[in-house]
Amino acid sequence: MEKAARFGVSMPAGLLRAFDGAIRQKGYANRSEALSDLVRDFLSMQKWEGSDAEVCGALVLIYDHEKRGLSDKLVDLQHEEHRHILSTMHIHLDERSCMEMMAMRGKANEVKRISDRLMVIKGVKQGKLIMTSA
Ligand code: NI
Repeated sequence: MEKAARFGVSMPAGLLRAFDGAIRQKGYANRSEALSDLVRDFLSMQKWEGSDAEVCGALVLIYDHEKRGLSDKLVDLQHEEHRHILSTMHIHLDERSCMEMMAMRGKANEVKRISDRLMVIKGVKQGKLIMTSA
């Protein structure tokens, strides 16, 4: 096994308590093991997201449809990226909030780039992308 390196980590106390509780439930022996796994996941995700592997993606956006111009912006961008956005489902969550789920396909780096463009639009409250190899 590769030689371990030590480093100090600072984080909010509440966050650390929640982390300790979660890793205990998962059965990790200690923080170092859990943190190493998280870092491995993060690195492989970073590498994969930047690659040109063919993927399917599902993007979920939560947004405020009363935000001026937002719905138009979202539709414009979806038309612009129609080659990668295959289908959109729109759900009216309540008087103001909408959820939009988009099925996407293409190279991982393209799907990620398009998702980032949609998520940063002002008025989009939450965005989550899931990708899997096509
Ligand atoms: Ni709606």
